[in-house]
Amino acid sequence: MTDKYAVIGHPIAHSKSPLIHAAFAKQTQQVMSYEAILAPLDGFAVTVQALIEQGYKGVNVTVPFKFAAFELANQHSERAIAAGAANTLTFSPQGIVADNTDGAGIVRDIEHNLGHRIAGKRVLLIGAGGAAEGVLQPLLETKPGTLVISNRTVDKAQRMANKINNPLTHVQACTFKALQGQAFDIIINATSAGLSDSALAIPNSIFAKNCLAYDMMYGRETPFMRQAKNNGAQVADGLGMLVEQAAEAFTVWRSVRPETQAVMQDIRKL
Ligand code: ATR
Repeated sequence: MTDKYAVIGHPIAHSKSPLIHAAFAKQTQQVMSYEAILAPLDGFAVTVQALIEQGYKGVNVTVPFKFAAFELANQHSERAIAAGAANTLTFSPQGIVADNTDGAGIVRDIEHNLGHRIAGKRVLLIGAGGAAEGVLQPLLETKPGTLVISNRTVDKAQRMANKINNPLTHVQACTFKALQGQAFDIIINATSAGLSDSALAIPNSIFAKNCLAYDMMYGRETPFMRQAKNNGAQVADGLGMLVEQAAEAFTVWRSVRPETQAVMQDIRKL
């Protein structure tokens, strides 16, 4: 019997997750299938129910269903609760278990693949939407020295910062303008501005010497990445995070951790 998995989203046609999971399955000799499924915008729960009835073991969930996935589940991991959203569902006899591997994915990419230890560093998280919320807690767990959340709409960044009760990291929220004169070692763009090729109104001062500028988007060079490069930063896109969050989900489902380096290189060549 082949164990069946899928990724659900809308849109979903361009998802690289089926390729990534097929590569992991081959490498670890797991007998499983993994496909991309388009759910109607108002039909996430119905789609999941149909998959459960067909014997699927679990699904990954992408935009715009990560909040709906969290709501649908009847058990939640701590990291799903921290994000208030789920990208990994496991179907068990007891019901639907929600997890979120996005934060673990970005932390592993930054620390393990890109070689930037986060502990003690000055970290800037740009954006205060779902993507930023999803990685905030896992970032804090790596114990940065300071963490600044900056967003075009500063109230949303402030709300995120207010929710945090963390004695180890100094967390604050600020406007893009207030970033002037500040410098950071790790800068993460969690906004969707790159989708529309929009530049962020952020000052060049934020890019400290030897800093890492990380865009959670992949597949194109965003204006943020260009600005970072022009200011001497080491630049990374979100492809590593994509592969690492997939590896973490695969590990949750199959109890075996796949190697990611070769898969990352293969996906980048596509
Ligand atoms: P996601 O799930 O991708 O995080 P979202 O919840 O809609 O999507 O959040 C989008 C984020 O990108 C927000 O932080 C948004 O800023 P606002 O809160 O001010 O809307 C940010 N964003 C999108 N386009 C932007 C732009 N052109 N300049 C600055 N920030 C932008």
